[in-house]
Amino acid sequence: MSRTHIRDFHDDDLDAIVRLWENAHRGDDAPVYSLAEVIASCQADHAVVAIQGDRLVGTAVGRAAHAQGWIVFFEVVPGPHAEHAAAALLDALERRMAPLGLGKLSILVGEDDDPVAALTANGFEVLHSVRYLERRMPVQRRELDLLKDVGGRILPRHLWRAVSGMRREKELLEERLVTPLSRPDLADRFGVVPPRAVMLFGPPGTGKTTFAKAVASRLDWPFVELFPSRLADGPGGLAGALRSTFETIGELEHAVVFIDEVEEIASRRGGTPPSPTQGVTNELLKLVAEFRESEGRLLVCATNFVRALDAAFLRHGRFDYVLPIGLPDDEARTAIWSRYVPADSIADVDIAALVEASDGFTPADIEYAARRASQEALARALRAGEAGDADSLATADYLRALGATRATVSEADVEGFLADIDTFARL
Ligand SMILES: Nc1ncnc2c1ncn2[C@@H]1O[C@H](COP(=O)(O)OP(=O)(O)O)[C@@H](O)[C@H]1O
Ligand SMILES: [Mg+2]
Repeated sequence: MSRTHIRDFHDDDLDAIVRLWENAHRGDDAPVYSLAEVIASCQADHAVVAIQGDRLVGTAVGRAAHAQGWIVFFEVVPGPHAEHAAAALLDALERRMAPLGLGKLSILVGEDDDPVAALTANGFEVLHSVRYLERRMPVQRRELDLLKDVGGRILPRHLWRAVSGMRREKELLEERLVTPLSRPDLADRFGVVPPRAVMLFGPPGTGKTTFAKAVASRLDWPFVELFPSRLADGPGGLAGALRSTFETIGELEHAVVFIDEVEEIASRRGGTPPSPTQGVTNELLKLVAEFRESEGRLLVCATNFVRALDAAFLRHGRFDYVLPIGLPDDEARTAIWSRYVPADSIADVDIAALVEASDGFTPADIEYAARRASQEALARALRAGEAGDADSLATADYLRALGATRATVSEADVEGFLADIDTFARL
């Protein structure tokens, strides 16, 4: 058998390295360094190969990141010369990378891989105190421009947790939307079809926009809000602009698309003369149907006037769910108040009294009242100046601010909403 010799990588070696990599990672579901990464390093960083006769029997591929080098691929075909080839490859790679000023050279290996003996024989030390973690970036590089074109963005991860109270709504959204979309394998096992489009309806300020964003944050999908009023300028008018925006969104791997106040572009058609938005409503109906054809995307529409929507819009087959988002119950108001009362004052504030006094108020109303109380207390503290210690916020401050806040939702609105739930809700 001929001797093994080591030389630098050249492009002709690529096929053999691809085969080596595929063999090495057969059965792994997610290798740390993908084949694309390994090829990139072969071509742009440092790679050596072991040759026996005219056969490539091993490779070591490395890249330097400042003073630390990483071996991104190290593999030797088993055989009588394997031990020698492994040592020679590591030596050669180290010789080529050392002049870069490396402080150390590192490698990650699978739990049941066994290049460990070869590595330790060459001076590598096993650290038992580490575990490997990775996060897949929610938007891949090729999507960045698309996302920018449609004004989409990745929202912070904590928005779901930040929705206070609203436990029933959260549970419903978690069950109906988040789980089937984030775990399609599980949904499939139970025959659940992941939703493609949902409608949220309810009085203003109850948290529809907040929920749409929270769902995107929870899924870790980009959030794309469409503003019909800003789309209208294109040559094809609003209908054309909507279509081209949906086409761009179709190229994203994932997206939560949000249209707020959708009744503005999907109101009941007909009448004489026909309403000017009729063509837009027709287009949107078609777009929703097309949107439903692909996976990994969710359309969320929100409206304060569900009964103004075109009947065809709500017909079965377009929106999987039509979900009411109503006024917060006691538990939700407790959570919302607790969030706005500063930690320093919470001991002096009777949250239960505020919860009772704010029955019928939306989260947005409560937020407004809480801010107002805070501002007034701050102004009072400034007026008191250095003369005396300013009191912290107390229950009375909040009750006063609440008294000066008009509830957005009147009793008649509540009745209307309950009637709408009967007529339109689809859970
Ligand atoms: N569950 C909630 N917890 C805390 N704040 C909330 C909650 N729901 C809504 N808000 C706040 O109320 C305001 C209005 O909510 P929004 O989602 O815009 O209502 P809608 O879209 O139904 O009109 C926002 O400032 C939001 O942060
Ligand atoms: Mg809104």
